[in-house]
Amino acid sequence: MPSQIEQQLQTQLESRKARSLLRRLVVIPETSADFSSNDFLGLARNPRLNTRFLKELHSFPAHAPPLGSTGSRLLDGNSRYAEDLEDLIAEFHHAEAALIFNSGFDANVGFFSSVPQPGDVILYDEYIHASVHDGMKVSRAGVKKAFLHNSIEHLGELLQTVRREDQQRKAAIEASAVILGDKGSNNNNNNNNYNKDMAFKPRNIFVAVESVYSMDGDTAPLKEIVDLLEHFDAHLIVDEAHATGVFGDQGRGLVNELGLESRVFARLHTFSKALASNGAAMVGPKVLKEYLINYARPLIYSTFTSFSNLASVKSAYQMLMAGETVEVDLLIRIVEEWVQRDLRGARGEPMEEVPLPAMLDATPAIANKELPSSVSESSSGSGSSTLSVSTLSASSTTALVAKKCTIPSKL
Ligand SMILES: Cc1ncc(COP(=O)(O)O)c(C=O)c1O
Repeated sequence: MPSQIEQQLQTQLESRKARSLLRRLVVIPETSADFSSNDFLGLARNPRLNTRFLKELHSFPAHAPPLGSTGSRLLDGNSRYAEDLEDLIAEFHHAEAALIFNSGFDANVGFFSSVPQPGDVILYDEYIHASVHDGMKVSRAGVKKAFLHNSIEHLGELLQTVRREDQQRKAAIEASAVILGDKGSNNNNNNNNYNKDMAFKPRNIFVAVESVYSMDGDTAPLKEIVDLLEHFDAHLIVDEAHATGVFGDQGRGLVNELGLESRVFARLHTFSKALASNGAAMVGPKVLKEYLINYARPLIYSTFTSFSNLASVKSAYQMLMAGETVEVDLLIRIVEEWVQRDLRGARGEPMEEVPLPAMLDATPAIANKELPSSVSESSSGSGSSTLSVSTLSASSTTALVAKKCTIPSKL
């Protein structure tokens, strides 16, 4: 006879099933074509990454560093290897500092649960990842409010409201300080203390967005968002989970591609998608790193990731730095441009010509049709070539068009 709690769990599962919401673990057959995973660059099965990874592992004597990290980073789990890797990642992403978390989920929870100070404001895109929601649940921020997906107008309205309220609070504090100052003219010391405590501080505003949203594959209007936030003195946190390895110079992300690195407070680069590893780095100011080491509970109270995973992350970054992922990345970008065009068509919007990525002309291997070995090409005989993307790992976006994409013959 199942216990009460078992029955309750079963009832809830049945309710989910009745609503077609039941989640199950499935094992994907090895032979299936990948149209849905996060392995955007196909690195998870890439022989070059494999070779680099094994070489990295073997370049260290046994047990130095130990295979398992053996503890939280704040206890025994830290290593020179981890710190050097963080320096390499910070340098690659043109940031002051990088801090590695065991997962992107942990990093978002760590950031949003600890960095906003009591009473602060978090505004987030309505499509933001669950991990940001979990962080916000335990955050001390006074306001946590969603803005409409990618809507600059709505974000602007919310920012205006926050700053208007700040001004009202400032006026109220100043008015009460004047009254108290008048009343207490015999006791200046006490009044000074009181006024200091009550001094007006505008709330910090944090805005959480993703650079690429995985469900539709659309990107955030980051340039407009940054311009807007600077006007309101707000801080932007960009989750680059789906852009890392794919967008920007050698996969540095969309913030890099748009030249905004110095104008964004913090960025999250996950290793679990295009980089075929686990974990993530929060990159930003040095003081943010030190603060997170002190306050981010998922980092403090969890055993740090293993050396073998760090070696895998390092090998993937070495591939990005060596430019070994650029060609595959370009092909994926082309396919995604075409997917977006098809999606516009499906929504009844104009399907204007899709310009090929600007850097295409500058990539001789692509321009000369020397395609990566994982991509096969066949001529349609009609002035255009057809790329079969079946052997390329495709993002969830490209999965929407599990078909051949026609690319102009210039390719
Ligand atoms: C936008 C976004 N942020 C964060 C995460 C969490 O990253 P990780 O898989 O490394 O925990 C994901 C993963 O699904 C994601 O899509």
